[in-house]
Amino acid sequence: MKITYVGLIKVCFLVFLLLCATVLLNISWRQRDSSQSLQHCNSTCSAKYLETKLKEAHLTGRHKKWETYRLDAKPTSATGQGHQHFAKEPLQIKDLFIAVKTTKKYHGNRLNLLMQTWISRAKEQTFIFTDWEDQELRQKAGDQMVNTNCSAVHTRQALCCKMAVEYDKFVLSDKKWFCHLDDDNYLNLHALLDLLSTFSHSTDVYVGRPSLDHPVETVDRMKGDGSGSLKFWFATGGAGFCISRGLALKMSPWASMGNFISTAEKVRLPDDCTIGYIIEGMLDVKMQHSNLFHSHLEHLQRLPTESLLKQVTLSYGGPDNKWNVVRVNGAFSLAEDPTR
Ligand SMILES: *[C@@H]1O[C@H](CO)[C@@H](O)[C@H](O)[C@H]1NC(C)=O
Ligand SMILES: *[C@@H]1O[C@H](CO)[C@@H](O)[C@H](O)[C@H]1NC(C)=O
Repeated sequence: MKITYVGLIKVCFLVFLLLCATVLLNISWRQRDSSQSLQHCNSTCSAKYLETKLKEAHLTGRHKKWETYRLDAKPTSATGQGHQHFAKEPLQIKDLFIAVKTTKKYHGNRLNLLMQTWISRAKEQTFIFTDWEDQELRQKAGDQMVNTNCSAVHTRQALCCKMAVEYDKFVLSDKKWFCHLDDDNYLNLHALLDLLSTFSHSTDVYVGRPSLDHPVETVDRMKGDGSGSLKFWFATGGAGFCISRGLALKMSPWASMGNFISTAEKVRLPDDCTIGYIIEGMLDVKMQHSNLFHSHLEHLQRLPTESLLKQVTLSYGGPDNKWNVVRVNGAFSLAEDPTR
């Protein structure tokens, strides 16, 4: 072995240089990543982008604060965070307007599950907003099925189009509460009534699960000269959310008769994000944060079984997120009931 002292120093120096380069590359990559963070999410903030961010947060557990917040299901407090308490308002299923957003592709598998389970207990209150005149569904649901005539593609515009129709139909109804759900949500009607009866429907209430652990910041395109920024929270549509009639009526200038679509176009935000923008940004009403609503991006297996009946909505993740099912005892195995 003829390794000279000088040779050894040369090798060490090379290794050192290599290490430095790796560290530098890592730092610059991290900076780029954080500069794209949602803190700066402006007009480029799309539903897809938010979802990717949420998935990332979920999979890597980097956003610890959010993670623990999400899974900390406190069954004792209605919204999980303090809110103004009103005298309990006697509330019945008939006071609700429940909008389920779906699309042609999911009429079979997803919607059938809902119709066989919770929708069967709230048939008159539940309206199915879809994008295709499906004769089979029409026979089953009758006038409860609403063909929005919106496009069936999963774009911001198509989703906003459906939300606009949902809003208008609610305003024309005489119901006290508007609740929006996705077609992969299981709704626990009793828990929902318990939660909503702690508020008064004639006051301003917007309740749901915050999509992120911090407010979205966007360029303010509606107020002032358009150079400022606006920070607001919004409830993730995938977990379901509710709005009181009192508040819904105040949203009218930005939401009724097609205005919702033009508002979403102006601010260039997804449908659920635009709802938050109108309520927190335009009307200065604070969202009530609740951890009783659950989307398909979570890890519901970690939810304590004894707290399940207190949850307002539950969801399932499908093949990409198979851990997002709840633990329940009963007649059906996970194989028989994969979306439990
Ligand atoms: C949105 O934010 C990105 C990154 O922070 C920035 O490059 C872009 O110019 C912003 N867009 C607008 C319209 O402000
Ligand atoms: C969709 O189109 C049909 C047929 O033109 C119409 O009857 C229906 O009212 C439309 N739906 C909505 C929500 O406008």
